[in-house]
Amino acid sequence: MSRNIIIDTDPGQDDAVAILLALASPELNVLGLTCVAGNVPLARTSHNARQVCELAGRADLPVYAGCDRPMGRGLVTAEHVHGDSGLDGAVLPEPQMPLQSQHAVDFIVETLRQAPAKSITLCSLGPLTNIGTALQQAPDIAERIAQIVLMGGAYFEVGNITPAAEFNIFVDPEAAEIVFKSGIDLVVAPLDVTHKALTRKAWIADLRTQNSRACDTVAGWTDFFERFDTEKYGSEGAPLHDPCVIAYLIAPHLFTGRHINVEIETQSELTRGMTVADWWRVTDRPANALFLCDINAVGFFNLITQRVARL
Ligand code: BDR
Ligand code: CA
Repeated sequence: MSRNIIIDTDPGQDDAVAILLALASPELNVLGLTCVAGNVPLARTSHNARQVCELAGRADLPVYAGCDRPMGRGLVTAEHVHGDSGLDGAVLPEPQMPLQSQHAVDFIVETLRQAPAKSITLCSLGPLTNIGTALQQAPDIAERIAQIVLMGGAYFEVGNITPAAEFNIFVDPEAAEIVFKSGIDLVVAPLDVTHKALTRKAWIADLRTQNSRACDTVAGWTDFFERFDTEKYGSEGAPLHDPCVIAYLIAPHLFTGRHINVEIETQSELTRGMTVADWWRVTDRPANALFLCDINAVGFFNLITQRVARL
């Protein structure tokens, strides 16, 4: 039986690959995409999400726009990583499918309330604003969520947008705090795991031999996306963060991690958005998340190619 998921996202090339991977995978039943402001502003993320659905041949999938800014702060975006469009690196047609008129937060709340308890998993690929807002407005949904699997945070790798913080958590630490304190079953794919799966030229070249428009598009996005990280880290390739969330749901054996306590720093100007992860279990704070740390990178990239080539 396939698992019902809602993907909350701010596409972003790596978000886009994650969406394609989900839509190509029979293990997952995507109920809808909820867009949030993050890598680029909301108007752009909700535009990009629809382009990606159409690329996957899924113009039928409902796409919702959600929060256009973090819960308690101004928006920080990442055009310096993703380009002005958020999806630089491949040219896609203007989306024809509609954006739903319902607000993403209302969709999340209504869908969870109407479905059997614990039958829906939330996949978060961007700042946690939509999910944090939904939990604040409707605390009763917490016990209805099967699991939240999210890309965000870091412990050993510390930060990518500041020395102390990963982008998704940094953008909306108040929303992240709500999620991490919610008591919901959490799986976290931090930079510690995503930085262990770097794209390789050979993988991109292989995508281009698949005779698939979706694979060619992923290759174009990856070419663009890589340049930022290769310049920054001096590495050969770049981490493809967000597909780790979807890969975890399809093939959890590719990952290992620890059940630990993770708290979010919301106060300090210096370290705001830091995920204070008790990896060594030096406190008696109770575990609230499975914090992933290792990944079988070869298996991960093979999975993406095999699945996306089916679209
Ligand atoms: C995260 O930030 C965004 O730039 C990516 O899409 C990913 O979700 C990585 O820090
Ligand atoms: Ca993202």
